[in-house]
Amino acid sequence: MNLKKNQKIRVVVGIDFGTSRSGFAYSFSFESQIKLYRDWSLQPSPYVKTLTDIFWDLSKKQLKSWGWEAPEDMGKIPTAKINDYVHCRKFKMLLYEGKEYYSDKERILVLDLIASYLKEIKNTAFKQITTNTTGLLKEEEILWCLTVPTIWTNENKDMMRKAAVKAGLISESSADSERLKLALEPEAAALYCLEEAGFSSISDVPQGTSFMVVDAGGGTVDISVHKVVSDGLDTIGLSSGGSCGSTNIDREFLKYVTNLIGKDIMDDFHTKFPSEFLKLFQDWERQKCSYDEKSIESNRVLKISIPNKLHRIISEKRSSIYNKLSQLQEGDDEYICLKREKIEEIFKPTLDSLILLVDKQFQELDRRSNKCDYIFLVGGFATSPFLQERVKQRYESKKVQKVVIPHDPGAAVVWGSVAYAKNPTRIRSRCSRLTYGIETRMPFEDGDKEDKKWVNELGKEYCDNRFDIFVKARKIVKVGEKVKRKYYPSEKNQTGVSIDVYSTPEEDVYYIDEDHVTLECRIVVDMSDTTDGWNRAVEVSMDFGDTEIQVEAKNVNTGKLYNHKILFGVYYEN
Ligand SMILES: Nc1ncnc2c1ncn2[C@@H]1O[C@H](COP(=O)(O)OP(=O)(O)OP(=O)(O)O)[C@@H](O)[C@H]1O
Ligand SMILES: [Mg+2]
Repeated sequence: MNLKKNQKIRVVVGIDFGTSRSGFAYSFSFESQIKLYRDWSLQPSPYVKTLTDIFWDLSKKQLKSWGWEAPEDMGKIPTAKINDYVHCRKFKMLLYEGKEYYSDKERILVLDLIASYLKEIKNTAFKQITTNTTGLLKEEEILWCLTVPTIWTNENKDMMRKAAVKAGLISESSADSERLKLALEPEAAALYCLEEAGFSSISDVPQGTSFMVVDAGGGTVDISVHKVVSDGLDTIGLSSGGSCGSTNIDREFLKYVTNLIGKDIMDDFHTKFPSEFLKLFQDWERQKCSYDEKSIESNRVLKISIPNKLHRIISEKRSSIYNKLSQLQEGDDEYICLKREKIEEIFKPTLDSLILLVDKQFQELDRRSNKCDYIFLVGGFATSPFLQERVKQRYESKKVQKVVIPHDPGAAVVWGSVAYAKNPTRIRSRCSRLTYGIETRMPFEDGDKEDKKWVNELGKEYCDNRFDIFVKARKIVKVGEKVKRKYYPSEKNQTGVSIDVYSTPEEDVYYIDEDHVTLECRIVVDMSDTTDGWNRAVEVSMDFGDTEIQVEAKNVNTGKLYNHKILFGVYYEN
């Protein structure tokens, strides 16, 4: 949707729906400023996003609270009522894992959780925007932009659209679907780095400057590399990602405490007192995020409170643990004490995985003889001095001139989602992760499989199931590049043609029934008017202009159009 063309749109709202934190930003169409929202209820420290948590009422089958209120409410529930509610976390990743329900025990639809959460964000955004205006904002005057991880498949994207409809962002009508844009998280982050973090305006940046964006979040770390070209950004190479976000560090912390107090005690504590268990983690989360450069310099020791109920279990089951704690922690057995070296140990496996991902991006850049001038660290995890130090030590003045940490790293994606929706043409090219094409019959050639031979009414030999490639994996595609092909019916009296779009991660492919090939979508074109016999063309085009590939099939004789969208995927590792 082009904002200039669509006079109706008065405000663009971008939503960063993250694994652990979510938020929104907005901008009116008459101004360039992008406004961030920070007034989240119960936020422990200032941050542009709130918690992606829901406190779900099982009997009413609806959200009871969300954001930071969710763990707060969980803590207040009397033990007798604990089974009536569920504290839902990290449900975004369940979508990617293809799970329909939150868990086998709690049969809450993941789609319902996402829709309920988006509805709350929508209401908050709507309220905020209307207090800033005369209040006469209509639904159809808002353009929404939802960010999606680069890993997401076509199916995930469809689910996200469904959730957006259910949340009331847009209606079900196909005309309204234009009011929802999907932005790829690394691209949104790159726009932020370009415009907010690195340079005062795009025209100041020497063309050809290249930079890597490392978006380190709660669940994942996503990496993309871009080059500044006139009026926008080219993407160099494949974006990549790994599940080495900051929540992995939380798992390491759990491992450490479990080793310290024993698995049986931890399991007991978890099952009997889930809200107290949560408090232990909340305390860890607060302290982990507050460990800054000054803490490192002063060798600050983190002291995480041991909840009362855990104290009780330890005393009842194995009080010798207190001696162990006391010996290890210089006499302190009231808290879990973590010295700087211990914190570094807890961070290490996650940082090692992150470094491995960045190394791989550099190998890929070297392979293509591409340079990289800067690394930008964004995402909430990028505020960690341990992460900053590791990245600087390894790459600054060696692989890049400088490692840049923007002043508000957590805001990159949400800010960039608005910038992207306002001007999507800033992104000039993308790299295709997959090879895309359609199934067709091609003239039979030597070496083709005999069982695929098909002979038409005129005796001409064809080979069935051939993969006609539109774009190859790892190819850089200019935004707006359209690939068009014409196809003709195989039989004179054929009354319909089915255009089957396939994809594969392989660069070379011959038949559509090879193991690595997946059917992406099927478009059925009506050709019931057979008057022109063989002379009836179907023109198929694939448009790589957006984050979604637009596939269009046109019955040339009738002019009727059929279309479908496929998400433009990129490379990802688990
Ligand atoms: N100083 C810090 N050290 C380590 N982790 C931190 C620090 N500050 C914030 N974080 C972590 O950053 C995460 C939030 O970052 P962000 O908002 O980018 O996540 P997200 O967008 O939800 O994640 P994803 O992009 O993976 O979906 C939280 O897990 C938080 O614990
Ligand atoms: Mg994120």
